[in-house]
Amino acid sequence: MKNKIVVIGSSNVDLIMKMDRLPEKGETITDAGFFQVYGGKGANQAVGAARAGGKVAFVNCVGNDAYTPQMLENFRNDGLDIRFVFQETDIASGHALVMIGGEGNNYLSVAPGANYKLTPELIDRSIPVIDEAAMIIMQYEIPVETIKYVFRIAEAKDIPVMWNFAPARSFDLSYVAKTAILVVNETEAAFLCGQQVETDEEVELAAKKLQELGAKLVIITLGKRGAFALSATEKVAVPAFKVNAVDTTSAGDVFCGSFAVAQTEGKSLTDSLRFASTASAICVTRIGAQPSAPTRKEIDEFIGNNYVEKSHSIVI
Ligand code: RIB
Repeated sequence: MKNKIVVIGSSNVDLIMKMDRLPEKGETITDAGFFQVYGGKGANQAVGAARAGGKVAFVNCVGNDAYTPQMLENFRNDGLDIRFVFQETDIASGHALVMIGGEGNNYLSVAPGANYKLTPELIDRSIPVIDEAAMIIMQYEIPVETIKYVFRIAEAKDIPVMWNFAPARSFDLSYVAKTAILVVNETEAAFLCGQQVETDEEVELAAKKLQELGAKLVIITLGKRGAFALSATEKVAVPAFKVNAVDTTSAGDVFCGSFAVAQTEGKSLTDSLRFASTASAICVTRIGAQPSAPTRKEIDEFIGNNYVEKSHSIVI
């Protein structure tokens, strides 16, 4: 039976500096706190989904540096199926430099390293686990040709793809039509639509445009303002929980992983959005990408203990 969430994407070693405010251009900030954790959008989504209760396989390429053995050990400890995490010996794993300022805002710079060695040939070798997929999740930190190749395989095998178009950079927009669930933040939505996405009206307009490009379900995450979703039959706005944010770094990744779990469990669109928003809310109260992803118990308890503001759900 096809019951796995198969995440195909990146993994990184995150080197974090936490400071009271982000520096100006050319400025040096002293007294920062330093943390080394594990990240990468693909790995964060895989770990987020596994901790939220999903059966998850991760398809990725790591390198050969001092950090990599612990990265792989962490994947095993989170119960990920890593039979198709490949290892290259002549390159480092992906690395990210993360600067976190006040209110958890960040600057991020990524050196892809071995993530760019995840070629279509390695995807061919991963077909046994792709054949077990109830859903595939991708982001945009692996080679373009690999993403396109996976889209074509998924279409041929009739496997729904959740595509988190992050980080935003140019791509052949015809592939949006191959997306079952497109997840973007306001910046990524603006990049794809070529228009400003700030007000509620602009958010809805952008979602309509992305729907016209062929995405079956469009989700625009709005940070402190929650999330907006549009499908052929439903329009849902879910407010965010009010929490004390210290680091927003992997909030979008945790959202995607936990949303996939909720959908593959058969939850409604509104309940899936609430579940994912809760997981993100917990995530931003902690520092670091993978250390911040909440467990299923934490998500369920948070939902149980907190007043859930009414979501606006309209059947179209
Ligand atoms: O989305 C957050 C992630 O982006 C970080 O963990 C970093 O590694 C980059 O990939």
